[in-house]
Amino acid sequence: MVVKIHFKKSNKVIEVFPGNTLLHIAKENDIFMPSPCGGNARCGGCRVKIFEGNDLEDISAEEYLKLSDEKIQEGYRLACSYIVKEDIVVDR
Ligand code: FES
Repeated sequence: MVVKIHFKKSNKVIEVFPGNTLLHIAKENDIFMPSPCGGNARCGGCRVKIFEGNDLEDISAEEYLKLSDEKIQEGYRLACSYIVKEDIVVDR
């Protein structure tokens, strides 16, 4: 089963198999996403907003450390921690 990721700003819809991080998928598809810490969930630089499909039950401890509760409720996630499992719409 493939899932669709709609990168709004880049105006791209990419179909992938679930299981990789959003940062990994973005890099593989030439969608710029800053990652100063190299994808180790330490800098917060890969923060993205997910408009649809965000599963809040999956939030990692690192995301709780780097994102405020308010930002999490607004749909922000760390792309290097977010494992894509279903169709999503992202602000990048
Ligand atoms: S790349 Fe640094 S927190 Fe994701």
